[in-house]
Amino acid sequence: MTSSENESDLSGPEGPDDPAPDPVEDIVVIGTGFIGLPLALLLADHGKRVVGVDIDQHLVREINDGTLNLDEDELQDLLTTGPVERNLEARTEPTDGDAFVISVPTPLTEPNKSPDLSALEAALESIRPYLEPGDLINVESTIPPLTCEETIVPFLKEAGFEPGADIQLTHSPERILPGNVFDELVGNDRVIGGIDETSRRRAASIYEPFLEGEIYYTDLLSAELCKLMENTFRDVNVALANEFALIGEELDIDMSDVIELANRHPRVDILQPGIGVGGHCLPIDPWFLNEVDPEHTNLITSARRINDKMPAVATRKIRRALASHADPTVLAFGAAYKPSVDDRRNSPAMQIVADLRGDGYRVRHYDRYVDELAYDDLPSVLERESPDVVVQLVPHEKTVAALEAERARLIDTGVDVLQFGVENPIEP
Ligand SMILES: NC(=O)c1ccc[n+]([C@@H]2O[C@H](COP(=O)([O-])OP(=O)(O)OC[C@H]3O[C@@H](n4cnc5c(N)ncnc54)[C@H](O)[C@@H]3O)[C@@H](O)[C@H]2O)c1
Repeated sequence: MTSSENESDLSGPEGPDDPAPDPVEDIVVIGTGFIGLPLALLLADHGKRVVGVDIDQHLVREINDGTLNLDEDELQDLLTTGPVERNLEARTEPTDGDAFVISVPTPLTEPNKSPDLSALEAALESIRPYLEPGDLINVESTIPPLTCEETIVPFLKEAGFEPGADIQLTHSPERILPGNVFDELVGNDRVIGGIDETSRRRAASIYEPFLEGEIYYTDLLSAELCKLMENTFRDVNVALANEFALIGEELDIDMSDVIELANRHPRVDILQPGIGVGGHCLPIDPWFLNEVDPEHTNLITSARRINDKMPAVATRKIRRALASHADPTVLAFGAAYKPSVDDRRNSPAMQIVADLRGDGYRVRHYDRYVDELAYDDLPSVLERESPDVVVQLVPHEKTVAALEAERARLIDTGVDVLQFGVENPIEP
């Protein structure tokens, strides 16, 4: 069952005569990290009374003091607006509310790549004392298929509720992109899967005050699958590009040029290869599908493995450059998992630096976006570190430009320069 608000024959999940859902005025957001906090800020800015709950006391204090440093100007500005100061309170413990939005981490257990739902279970347990008939639970965290049916519904029944009858349950997975959170939160289309229509309509009323994208309604399992399929689609396509690049290496040809030619075909759109796939979603979410159906996820898990081995491919190339220097100093630029963000979660660049250091190489590591690794001026860093090999791991625009400007001079003085991600991303 899928319907959209804007299709004329499907005016939404409700029938024309259904009463409007009870208003959602008091919203408790459990987990005020990357996903939960921007939502909490937008809701508070639109007049909702919001309690943001996080087990991280430091974060809670910074939200309440307005001293948190957020990546994006729009979010940073929101933190200190009047409505947000009035309507948002951060706490370490939940409280009563009309709706509970859950946005806690759902990582993998290593090394077996199974979903770790302990934070979700802890979040549910923490709201148990505050749940009342008529409340809505809306899960934004990315969750494996059937989590609502097999984990959340049994939890609610055990807590004395009948989901769909006296308590509402929805899953509305988040799609926002690091670096563009505010615009995407407002502009992206939103999928809301619900246990019933009342739940779906009530969850929609959380987003409607600020949402410019469309809302599409479906059931819980379809919403769970939808999010995982989106990220798996992207991961598999990156893996295809990476595999093409590896074939190019074998045949000693720059595949970027060939990809560009192939993309002249009207129905072909090959992505760019790279040094690996990082972040919080792509390296994790495909495994959630594998967990529920190992038999039919061969392509998906192969793609994961191809992407996982790309940092080692890059490391091999760097080692080759290092072999011609005695006791070399490596100067590495870039730690984030992609350009223009400070997010280092599952970053291939971090893995490459760790592997080189593991080999015993002296690696100086900088990233203009990451506070602990930041630098003012690339030429001064070059001067200070006197590197034998300079490696650009992440093509942050300004780093690429600054390094390009120094490249000829460095090469003239015997320094090797490897810039990943400029033309052929796996070919420095
Ligand atoms: N980061 C992304 O780009 C992104 C995009 C879409 C979906 N998601 C999904 O959203 C979910 C949250 O991801 P995130 O990036 O916001 O993670 P995050 O680590 O930035 O934030 C999660 C927050 O939850 C808090 N927390 C953990 N357990 C808690 C508990 N029991 N009670 C209260 N707070 C608790 C943590 O302290 C942390 O501050 C994950 O399922 C993730 O897969 C993330």
